[in-house]
Amino acid sequence: MTPPNHRGAPPVPWNLLPESAGTDARGSLTIGGCSVAALAATYGTPLFIYDEAQLRARCREAVEAFGDEVAYATKAFLCTAMARLAAEEGMVLDVSTLGELHVALLAGVDPSRLVLHGNNKSTAELSRALEVGVHRIICDSTDELDRLEVLAAAGGVRPKIWIRVTPGVEAHTHAYVQTGQEDSKFGFSVASGAAAAAVERIAAKGLLELCGVHAHIGSQVFDVASFGKAAEVLGRFFAPLGLGELCVGGGLGVAYVAGEEAPSFGAWAATVRGALAAVGIGPEVRISAEPGRAIVASAAITVYEVGTIKDLPGLRTYLSVDGGMSDNPRPVLYGSGYEAMAVAMPKAERVRAVRIVGKHCESGDVIVPEAFLPAEVGVGDLIATPVTGAYGYSMASNYNKVPRPAVVFVADGRERLVVRRETLEDLVRLDLG
Ligand code: LLP
Repeated sequence: MTPPNHRGAPPVPWNLLPESAGTDARGSLTIGGCSVAALAATYGTPLFIYDEAQLRARCREAVEAFGDEVAYATKAFLCTAMARLAAEEGMVLDVSTLGELHVALLAGVDPSRLVLHGNNKSTAELSRALEVGVHRIICDSTDELDRLEVLAAAGGVRPKIWIRVTPGVEAHTHAYVQTGQEDSKFGFSVASGAAAAAVERIAAKGLLELCGVHAHIGSQVFDVASFGKAAEVLGRFFAPLGLGELCVGGGLGVAYVAGEEAPSFGAWAATVRGALAAVGIGPEVRISAEPGRAIVASAAITVYEVGTIKDLPGLRTYLSVDGGMSDNPRPVLYGSGYEAMAVAMPKAERVRAVRIVGKHCESGDVIVPEAFLPAEVGVGDLIATPVTGAYGYSMASNYNKVPRPAVVFVADGRERLVVRRETLEDLVRLDLG
């Protein structure tokens, strides 16, 4: 870790910002042709600002790489505007709860363009999925198969399903977001024979139509070789089944801080296809994927206002902002790194070492433990953390009864408030006194 008396850092690499980022006549940050400072003045802070053109471009890249059955994993960021955008750009939507399903339907997404995930789907979730007619239900356990077979028999329908398997491959990522290894709550193990037993049981009962197989090895994966290894195991299991659909899950990593470089959708798809072809999976099989983070993460920044600066000579400087672990729990949960910049001077050298912390009542509420900002940044100024578009708003909480931020989409000099800031009334909406 960089010591607090470090000599500083260059400006945040521009490629970590949304593609439409620029500066106005005063050198202040703009996104999608909109002044970030003006957006903060209009909608308040903390504020999530998404570059809509970039969201669309990433969806199109995913479709180009994997075809039109590629799904956007809505858990990364979901509101009706986002659901509509992904559907408009040709993506299927992956929902994993009744809530995500509800939002997608509310957005007007065609149910036949939805797939339902989850390691513990309730009867209510399964029934709703059958009622609206989702494209595929990805079955995760024998208990779920039991539940779905009861519903199928009662409803006189034959649901189209995939089974989720665990290929026994450890993705190189944080343990909390690894899902492909044997010791996992997700899916049927290939190695133990559980996956083969599930296939046999589905065929024997004949109540469900097994259309394909799915695996998801984890999230924020930088090394496409991990995807290749998983695809190989998946492919060997899949080949003799004679099925037509194979989904390799999500997990493509993104660059969060200076020096990181992430693989492209194209490289991911090429690796997966290569590995599958090597084990005899031909072009007749529809290969899909379901990225979440790589679609939305780098399209957004979060804007905060600096509230206090506390200098502890010989120790460090704490710079507190008006959000924190309630709008970005990722540093606390996974030790994830972020960069920080001054909105008024995004291209300035960052000579001042600070620890950027939130407003919550615990010392763990850290956004960037070892950040650098220009010397001029003071109380009342705006700072931004790039690459906050995935698993930020979607994991936001009301800890300390902090209202969740607003979300704005920007494009071509126009802004669109897609999620309004929560109000104090919202905070007590469920409180029955
Ligand atoms: N498919 C399935 C079945 C998944 O469980 C996930 C993510 C995805 C697709 C999308 O993965 P992505 O492309 O976004 O990596 N909160 C954590 C990430 C948890 C991911 C959970 N599942 C984080 O902030 O890093």
